[in-house]
Amino acid sequence: MSKVTVVGAGNVGATCANVLVTKQVADEVVLLDIKEGVSEGKAMDIMQTANILGLNTTLTGVTNDYAKTADSDVVVITSGIPRKPGMTREELIGVNAGIVKSVTDNVLKYSPNAVIICVSNPMDTMTYLIHKTSGLPKNRIIGMGGALDSARFKYFLSLALGANPNEIEGIVIGGHGDTTMIPLTRYAAYRGIPASTLLPADQLEKVAADTMVGGATLTKLLGTSAWYAPGAAAAQVAEAVLHNENRMISCSALLEGEYGESDLCIGVPCILGRNGIEKIVEFDLNEAEKELFRKSAEAVHKTNAALAGAL
Ligand code: NAI
Ligand code: 2OP
Repeated sequence: MSKVTVVGAGNVGATCANVLVTKQVADEVVLLDIKEGVSEGKAMDIMQTANILGLNTTLTGVTNDYAKTADSDVVVITSGIPRKPGMTREELIGVNAGIVKSVTDNVLKYSPNAVIICVSNPMDTMTYLIHKTSGLPKNRIIGMGGALDSARFKYFLSLALGANPNEIEGIVIGGHGDTTMIPLTRYAAYRGIPASTLLPADQLEKVAADTMVGGATLTKLLGTSAWYAPGAAAAQVAEAVLHNENRMISCSALLEGEYGESDLCIGVPCILGRNGIEKIVEFDLNEAEKELFRKSAEAVHKTNAALAGAL
């Protein structure tokens, strides 16, 4: 029996749970929130799609009852406040650090062997916080940001190329922030053909720029941050772990010398499998990309410094 818990039944958490159920990724999914009745209501609504869609996964909603999350293989943490228009992800740190820390403690009491996927923002810093406070081995803590940013990159590339998004390759590394993420345009491809040979340089640069502000654009349109692609991206990471897919996805991982950095969590290409992060893949970056990564790491270190009180 495989089991996933999603903490936070807000926009992202409920969407993640819905994707997990609809794709039948696990036998059992538990959705937990602190707000009375919200998880129960959303779980009931989602489970009423089971007979329409022919689904067999069981989804249970609970209010702060961690005993019901016991023996989860994977736990996705989405609890916390989201961005409002004009806010950066970094401004969420004070409130979300307390929430992420207490949720992680509670989850691990009942699922000591779980792989944790952190979604709450500022995600790289929240992932680092879990590393610093949980005592878990580094492979079992994964930050979800690069999966989403890479999906947005591929979306904008598919529009520019007039191509099917499923035929596009593209990866975003670095911090999950409007100015810290690095869409690797040099490695973007359409059916193996470098995108740089198919699009003029200024168009490829615009694709990268649109990707970087992809979250902010949606926050402005929606009045709160996005949830369909974030929820689906979190479910994609959970699925890669649970199904031991050995799949390369950009995730926030603790670096210990990789890409010349250490003592921070930041987006890098990761091979995901049953143990969580099975391996960090070191791409061959050129000097300009190395400099972007160094600056991105510097910015993430700076945000991490604001955690001082929470550690
Ligand atoms: P939301 O406000 O819709 O949902 C958050 C939920 O967390 C609420 O239902 C709230 O009651 C719950 N919550 C708060 N404290 C809790 C606690 N102690 N225990 C359990 N549940 C608790 O927010 P949304 O849009 O779902 O976003 C959630 C988080 O994910 C935000 O921090 C947001 O910035 C982040 N996010 C991260 C992305 C990424 O790629 N890493 C993408 C999109 C959002
Ligand atoms: C996003 O990228 C705000 O992290 C959130 O949509």
